[in-house]
Amino acid sequence: MEWKSIYEIGIKKVDSEHQMLVELINKLEKAMSNGNSNKVIGNVLKDLVDYVKIHFKSEEEVMKKIGYPDLKRHHGLHKDLVNDVARILIDFKNGKTWTAEELSGFLHMWLVDHILEEDRKIGVFLGVI
Ligand SMILES: [Fe+2]
Ligand SMILES: [Fe+2]
Repeated sequence: MEWKSIYEIGIKKVDSEHQMLVELINKLEKAMSNGNSNKVIGNVLKDLVDYVKIHFKSEEEVMKKIGYPDLKRHHGLHKDLVNDVARILIDFKNGKTWTAEELSGFLHMWLVDHILEEDRKIGVFLGVI
């Protein structure tokens, strides 16, 4: 997937973490389309899950710092998103492999919808977008 300027929320730290997530999704798609072993794909998927957790924690710290009023609900959304992406890893470990198309369709929506619908509001609150 390609990074688009519309994804920017105007907070440098958050934007660069979102770009890193896009890179990890691209790495995963590449690993799948190149027909890498399940072990390699599983490792990339694990890197993605780990980084997602790091990013959410960091984004929540930003929200806390600026006194973002909707932090509690946003935190709840992050929890659901972690579960969604962790489920892919569980499926994968159980041998229920997603196709590259299914996985990329899911992850694009999973990331882009949240950025555009929720993360953007943080930038709006801060007046940087
Ligand atoms: Fe978020
Ligand atoms: Fe985010």
